[in-house]
This record gives sequence, C-alpha cells and structure tokens, in this order.
Amino acid sequence: MDAYELRAQFPVLGRVAYLNAGTDGPLPARATRAASEELEREAQDGRALSHFERRFALADELRSAYAGLLGCKASDVALTTCTSEGIAQTISGLELGHGDEVVTSDEEHPGLLGALSAERQLRGVSVRAVPLLDVANAVGPRTRLVACSHVGWMSGLEAPKELAQLDVPVLLDGAQGVGAVEVDVGALGCDAYAGAAQKWLCGPDGAGMLYVTASLRERLAVSRRGYVNLADPDAGMDARVHGDARCLDAFSLSAETLACALAAVGVLAEAGWSAVHARARGLAALLAGRVQERGRELAPRGETTLVSFSSADAVEERVRLAREGIVIRNIPGRPWLRASVGAWNDENDLDRLLRALDN
Ligand SMILES: Cc1ncc(COP(=O)(O)O)c(C=O)c1O
Repeated sequence: MDAYELRAQFPVLGRVAYLNAGTDGPLPARATRAASEELEREAQDGRALSHFERRFALADELRSAYAGLLGCKASDVALTTCTSEGIAQTISGLELGHGDEVVTSDEEHPGLLGALSAERQLRGVSVRAVPLLDVANAVGPRTRLVACSHVGWMSGLEAPKELAQLDVPVLLDGAQGVGAVEVDVGALGCDAYAGAAQKWLCGPDGAGMLYVTASLRERLAVSRRGYVNLADPDAGMDARVHGDARCLDAFSLSAETLACALAAVGVLAEAGWSAVHARARGLAALLAGRVQERGRELAPRGETTLVSFSSADAVEERVRLAREGIVIRNIPGRPWLRASVGAWNDENDLDRLLRALDN
C-alpha cells in the first residue's frame, strides 16, 4: 500500500486537513466496518459463550499486534482502555509512600500528572518536575521511579536516551510515541510503557496497551481484580492474578473496540511501519521548516511527528482554522498551536494549514 492508497483509507481526509492524531487519529473505513460487523454479529447471534471466546481471541490478536509494535513479547503486554489507565495502574501498584520521590518532567499531560497528584495527595510521595531532557540526571537517593513522556505532547521533544542506563524503574508515557515513531522498549531501557489505540494507531477510543517487564510486575500490587485478569476466576477468594502481563488487563474491552483497533493497526501495517514512520517524520520536519519561514517561533522539538509553534491567540486561531477545515489543537497554558502530522497526511494538508496561517 503506497502513501496515496493509505490516505484513501481515511474518510475524514477527503473533507478536512486533519492534523490532530496527537489527540485522536483519523479512523480508517476498514476499522469502522470491523466494529460494525462485530456489533451486527452480536445482534444476530446473541452474546453467549462463543461471543466471549471471540472477545478473548480478538484480545490475543491485538496483544500480539501491539507487542510487535513495542518490540516485546505478547506476554509482557496488558490491554488497557487508554494510556492514562496503564500509567495509573503502574504507579499505584508500586505502593510508594512518605520519603519516596518520583522524578518527572515539566511538560507532562494530565494522564500522567493525575496519577502523580494521587501519589502526592493520598500517599505523601514527593514529585520533582524538571525539563524533559534533564530527567535522567535528576535521579537522587530517594527516587523510586522516573515517569515521563517518551515524546512530549506539548513540544514533541523525545525523552533522553540516558534513561536506559538508570537503575530505578522508568515508566514512559507513550501516548505520543507508539505508532508515531519507532518504539523498541528494550532499546529505550524502560520498565513500563503505556500507549493508546486512538491516537497514532488510528483506532477507537477505549483501548490501549501497557508493557511491563516481568521484574517490575513482580513488584506491582495488583489491587484491581476481576474475571479477566484472574488465572483461575472460578477459584473464588483463592483466585490468583495471571502470571504474565494479563494481570493488568482492563476488565472489559468490547469485541467491537478490539476489532476496530486491530483493523486500524492492520491498515498501517500494510503500508509498512518503517514507511509510515519515515513519511510522518519527514512531513513534520517539512512543516516545521515552513512554519518557521513564516516567522512563527517553533517549540523545541525532536525528530517526531508533532510540530508546535507560536500563536498570538492560540484558542482563537484554532477555532478559525477549524472553520476553514483545518484541524489542529492549542496547548493549554502555552502560547502554542500543535499540528500532528501522520503518514496519511500529504503536502496539500500542510499547504492548507500554511496558507491559513498567513491569513
Ligand atoms: C502525553 C499524553 N499522555 C497521556 C494522554 C492521555 O491519553 P489517553 O486518553 O490514552 O489516556 C495524552 C493525550 O493526549 C497525551 O498526549
């Protein structure tokens, strides 16, 4: 599947310059069909044992697909409902307390900040925020965890490579990573990596992934238990959680959500992951250069798929651009607009945005 054929998979791109995968990616028609087919099957056949077998089979397939993307074994991947859930499960499972410290960056999303504020407010954990590029150097004697973005959602900066050398556990928020840029959890040296279906994997809202190494899993208290994450759910109060990452699975992912997520990944895989990553990065770099030529200040960025730039009134400009059929977002608390550039975009999308910025 070439770039032109890939673009044709996404109905929204026929109408608008959609540059917003950092919020939610465009949905391919094949993925919405897959979801509808599951619902139709459920409507026609009812939802008895075979329906649950179907859900487990889809979950296995999706887990393997996500493991392939992360560069790990399927048994190290839990299926979650979103990035934030994986982050919260990991952080709360560490059971940190008074005297413990978590190092994070000063450009994190509420999906991570929420879990950290819970640690601070409920357990007295101290949280130290430093610039993303400095997180590895900020580790001190009381640091029990480094938790930060793989790719920062505000600027598009990448977490420093030095994180791989740390002895303390590292949790990466991969909401702007997986699907957008290559991920190899081994090379990143992280102990946990949380990601989402709905952003750069163009899937539905309500699905995500959490990679956790076996050694970190051993240290996590899994307080949330139910049918899906128990190895022997019929053992009543003696039931144990799964010995692999399924112990962190979300309780209920629907067949339509799983099928939709799987079909979306399938579309991108057909285009070829290295081509998808290279095209998105290339188009984002092109946009960054041209935005700068227009006198807009670029937020410091890595070689990622996010391009954030200055705006005199970011909210007003976002609304105006949306009226003109160009979908990007503003960054709360900063004078920036952010364009998310995917392999499904083309030069025409970029030109539409650039022309509109001139107005
Ligand atoms: C860096 C980052 N982390 C977490 C989230 C929350 O993602 P989710 O809705 O998958 O929990 C986002 C969403 O934009 C994000 O950009």
